[in-house]
Amino acid sequence: MPMDVAGKAIVVVGGASGLGLATAGLLAKAEAKLAIIDINPSSLERCIATLASPDLIVHGICGDIVPKAEAVKLVREAAGKLGRIDGLVNCAGVYPRRPILDITDEDWDFDWKINVRGTYNTMAAAVELMRGQPLAGKVRGRIVNVSSVDAFKAHPQNAHYAATKSAVVSLTRSFALEFAPDQILVNAIAPAGIATEKAKGSGFLPELASHTPLGRNAELDDITSWIGFMLGEGNNYMTGETVIVSGGYIFA
Ligand SMILES: NC(=O)c1ccc[n+]([C@@H]2O[C@H](COP(=O)([O-])OP(=O)(O)OC[C@H]3O[C@@H](n4cnc5c(N)ncnc54)[C@H](O)[C@@H]3O)[C@@H](O)[C@H]2O)c1
Repeated sequence: MPMDVAGKAIVVVGGASGLGLATAGLLAKAEAKLAIIDINPSSLERCIATLASPDLIVHGICGDIVPKAEAVKLVREAAGKLGRIDGLVNCAGVYPRRPILDITDEDWDFDWKINVRGTYNTMAAAVELMRGQPLAGKVRGRIVNVSSVDAFKAHPQNAHYAATKSAVVSLTRSFALEFAPDQILVNAIAPAGIATEKAKGSGFLPELASHTPLGRNAELDDITSWIGFMLGEGNNYMTGETVIVSGGYIFA
């Protein structure tokens, strides 16, 4: 898959572990310049130590994307360190399960504030910076949000999470339309089960794999390759789309 991100300044939010860390690893190999934003200081430290190499520019920035003012400060700091912002990936997210009739106010607020408000906050901060930049090729900036196949399937075991991921699809479309005249591309990916440490610990992966036509969960590189493609020069014309990469689970 063509993934030309060499030299691009890319901010990975939630990049200290799981899908975000794997995405940062792929982008680092492809010679992007990186800033990783994450709320967890010890994971962030480990992540920077893992990625560090003499040829790589990688900055770790610790903070919480939920309060808008803090998210704006974090994204500005990241772009300031990198010199510009060509790409933003929103991988921060939470997915605790709760039966549909037991979802509490606290459950709603917890999922919503990180998955939806946090995603909105970093996008808002990034497009403000991107639209003031000169074009790099045909595009001023590319954003990739992480939704979930659950945005498109009934999911009574985790209805509040599924609703937040539908909201991410909607935000992706709204930002794409609003900032298309600025040549900013906004897309999302909707995976099914991915074998991250967090998901493995949550216990739902074997059941998901058994309902997935390809017969397995996604490995990290099954998903990061798509994120890398949407962030790179291979994509100059797709915007507002959510790409479902679910091993066929969407149809099961
Ligand atoms: N793993 C799966 O099976 C799966 C499937 C579909 C979609 N997703 C989505 O992929 C994304 C990543 O999932 P993962 O399994 O890698 O999870 P993870 O917990 O390993 O990674 C999420 C990262 O986001 C960070 N984070 C959380 N809240 C934050 C905040 N307020 N501010 C800044 N950083 C914050 C965490 O510290 C963590 O490093 C999530 O959005 C999840 O919903 C995961």
